[in-house]
Amino acid sequence: MSSTLFRTKKVEQSIQDTEEPEHALKRSLSALDLTVFGVGVVIGTGIFVLTGTVAKNNAGPAVALSFVVAGVVCALAALCYAEFASTVPVAGSAYTFAYASLGELPAWIIGWDLVLEFALGTAVVAVGWSGYIHSLLAGAGWELPAALAGRDGADGFGFDILAAALVLVLTGILVLGMKLSARVTQVVVAIKVAVVLVVIIAGAFFVKGANYQPFIPPSEPQEAGGSLHAPLIQLLVGWAPANFGVMGIFTAASIVFFAFIGFDIVATAAEETRNPQRDMPRGILGSLFICTALYVAVSIVVTGMQNYSQLSVDAPLADAFKATGHPAFAGIISFGAAVGLTTVCMILLLGQTRVFFAMSRDGLLPRFFSHVHPRFKTPHRPTVLLGVVIAVVAGFTSLSELAELVNIGTLFAFMVVAISVLILRRTRPDLPRAFRTPWVPVLPIVSVLASLWLMLNLPAETWIRFVVWMALGVVVYFLYGRTHSRLARQAQPAAGEAGRRPGPGAG
Ligand code: ALA
Repeated sequence: MSSTLFRTKKVEQSIQDTEEPEHALKRSLSALDLTVFGVGVVIGTGIFVLTGTVAKNNAGPAVALSFVVAGVVCALAALCYAEFASTVPVAGSAYTFAYASLGELPAWIIGWDLVLEFALGTAVVAVGWSGYIHSLLAGAGWELPAALAGRDGADGFGFDILAAALVLVLTGILVLGMKLSARVTQVVVAIKVAVVLVVIIAGAFFVKGANYQPFIPPSEPQEAGGSLHAPLIQLLVGWAPANFGVMGIFTAASIVFFAFIGFDIVATAAEETRNPQRDMPRGILGSLFICTALYVAVSIVVTGMQNYSQLSVDAPLADAFKATGHPAFAGIISFGAAVGLTTVCMILLLGQTRVFFAMSRDGLLPRFFSHVHPRFKTPHRPTVLLGVVIAVVAGFTSLSELAELVNIGTLFAFMVVAISVLILRRTRPDLPRAFRTPWVPVLPIVSVLASLWLMLNLPAETWIRFVVWMALGVVVYFLYGRTHSRLARQAQPAAGEAGRRPGPGAG
């Protein structure tokens, strides 16, 4: 039985599947589209909202270093992603890569994990977006009834109608087609990057050196609240849970990591890229580099404008300008943030539907979902189903713990991708690789360790939630996917040369 769990899908098969007309997506994206796509999803709630939270609670001005740490972890993973995306250019990202290298069960696990990452990520960003819209509306003197303004601050019933509406509108746009959404994305990304540059350039004039003292605030014991809130690593080594100090930089890094989520989604669009072999690596690494530079600059400026302990948690970038007596800038920033978060939400939703689509095409989820709309050429069924589910989740959720759950899922995916690069180099050295990860095996191994390190810096309770979700996934696999998988239903060839494990005759 173990050999069926680890049956691999041949890379050639993955590519061939995309050529079946009924299940094929339109190839329309260029390297520039991909980079815009990447920046479009990467800059979002992380920099606009979480910067203030972690500077205030975990790292102080040293949050800039946390962004560097998270950026390095992502760059390592990106170099692995780029090799895989350029070798296996089909929808599904880490899921597809794992299917080609590690086998079916690991692929299912990673696909299930990506569902968590993208679906909850979409919900988190939609709620963040709704917060900025509320603040803009409040500026104009309008208030929504409390029961429709979201979970936070609601007495009893609270539904975030704006967040849910955003998800539903974006679902409609995605069903209508990739090209339309890419065009909308380009305009919105331009606005978002412009606003980030305004923060950096205008904000630099209001920086006070005294706000950087101390740059790394001394370590402080964490407030009581149950040890489950403490980073797992602190519990494992028996330290008293603490904030700030050097460990605080890593705790903050494991949270602001959310700000980088999305560049991996560029890889999920491989199947819709005109020349994936050349354009994928450019798209992934390009968007990651631009974002890291912007994040470090923004966090240095903002913590210089206002003492970290005074930063606001809801809208830190805009509020730092209010605090220095420049509300006009604050309005512009809030507007740009609200516009920018729209694309983040849309692209996370897109990544989500594409993973679901790929899993269904392989028979691990019902094939009903892998039917492509005859006119729009989009996987409309999973898009609509997931759009509605996420809209409901976004309506009833508040953010911070969800963001941590999203992070742990994503870091786990990074580990799997890095391991898959190593395995595929051994099992399929013959495959053409437009982009090769440098310094193999050292770089993928360092990537695995770096991702694991950030995971260990997440709270113990996040680990528990993650393990429960993944266990549920394994149950679903054994109840459905294992028997319905396309590989299971195909004739069982002696898959000798493709299988890296001995004894494939059993599978
Ligand atoms: N990186 C995206 C954000 O920060 C998900 O919103």
